[in-house]
Amino acid sequence: MPLRVVVAGASGVVGRTLLPLLRARGHHVTALVRRCPDRSCAEQADEVVTADVLDLAALREALTAAAPDVVVDQIAGFGPAGPHDAEAARRAADRRAATAGNLVVAAVAAGARRVVAQSTAAAYRPHGHEVLDEDAPLWTDAPGCWGDLVRSIASVEEAVLTCPGIEGVALRYGALYGPATEFAPGGTVHEQVRGSALPVVGDGFGLTSFTHLDDAAGAVLEVLDDIDPGAYNVVDNEPAECAEWLPAYARMIGCPAPVSLTVEQAEAQLDWLTVHRLTEQRGATNFRLRETVGWRPAWPSWREGFAELLGHWPG
Ligand SMILES: NC(=O)c1ccc[n+]([C@@H]2O[C@H](COP(=O)([O-])OP(=O)(O)OC[C@H]3O[C@@H](n4cnc5c(N)ncnc54)[C@H](OP(=O)(O)O)[C@@H]3O)[C@@H](O)[C@H]2O)c1
Repeated sequence: MPLRVVVAGASGVVGRTLLPLLRARGHHVTALVRRCPDRSCAEQADEVVTADVLDLAALREALTAAAPDVVVDQIAGFGPAGPHDAEAARRAADRRAATAGNLVVAAVAAGARRVVAQSTAAAYRPHGHEVLDEDAPLWTDAPGCWGDLVRSIASVEEAVLTCPGIEGVALRYGALYGPATEFAPGGTVHEQVRGSALPVVGDGFGLTSFTHLDDAAGAVLEVLDDIDPGAYNVVDNEPAECAEWLPAYARMIGCPAPVSLTVEQAEAQLDWLTVHRLTEQRGATNFRLRETVGWRPAWPSWREGFAELLGHWPG
């Protein structure tokens, strides 16, 4: 059934991918942007409304006029520095929690039935060598700025999943890759690998679950309607150890193999979060979303996805 859908963060990496998919399914799409409508949103949406989501009065007005059935929150807002700059990460965490809270309040006021919010599958407390499902606890007492970010993610989810009268869905994405992400040419990870600044640390056991932008956006289509409210991992089928994906990525961009460091060397040279990701982060399973709605990633493995992104894919 066609729905009225508002996309907040419509100009972001997932939002831009999502707009045409929603239109192709026949939904009425309102792009919510912060600044004067950019042309790509105007072309891909039925209407564009402008509001800073931190301005609750303006947001309420915009959402009430749009009269959505579903509000999709794709405001990540961590910016190109990502979570590695402690002060910026702290500010971003506060903003992220505030934008999600405002969107839920405004969605209720506008009579929306459902809110779908972007979350992350990288926030689980690491546990053994397991790949984790949605019942694993979020690492809200993680060290430093990662703790700030995980707590902000937890509060985004709480706002969305516990609001009376709203069916809340949190989509926990893996490391997002695709055009204009950190993994694309010119992106942070690409430049780090090119500059030999991202090593394999120790045994390289840190696991990353990846999500292609096509799948991040595609999963939204599956949760607009029937699916039970709750949190769902949206990740590919192949969580990868850093000892595996990092050399493969370096090969694909024509760079020398990454250097190897001991954990002690890495701790002396790199920030805590990078070492955590390369050594102890756990992957996530997409079993719940597969079983509940039959979702399948269009890019089941980062191997093919990276090859396509980096120009090695024959098709
Ligand atoms: N799971 C992951 O791995 C993951 C998740 C998120 C991001 N990233 C990476 O980080 C990079 C930077 O991403 P990003 O965090 O900046 O996300 P993004 O998806 O590129 O953009 C965030 C979106 O939220 C909007 N927004 C932010 N604050 C807003 C506000 N107060 N009111 C209304 N709209 C607001 C932005 O609008 P404007 O266009 O006006 O700024 C933009 O549309 C990405 O390219 C990606 O590589 C990775």
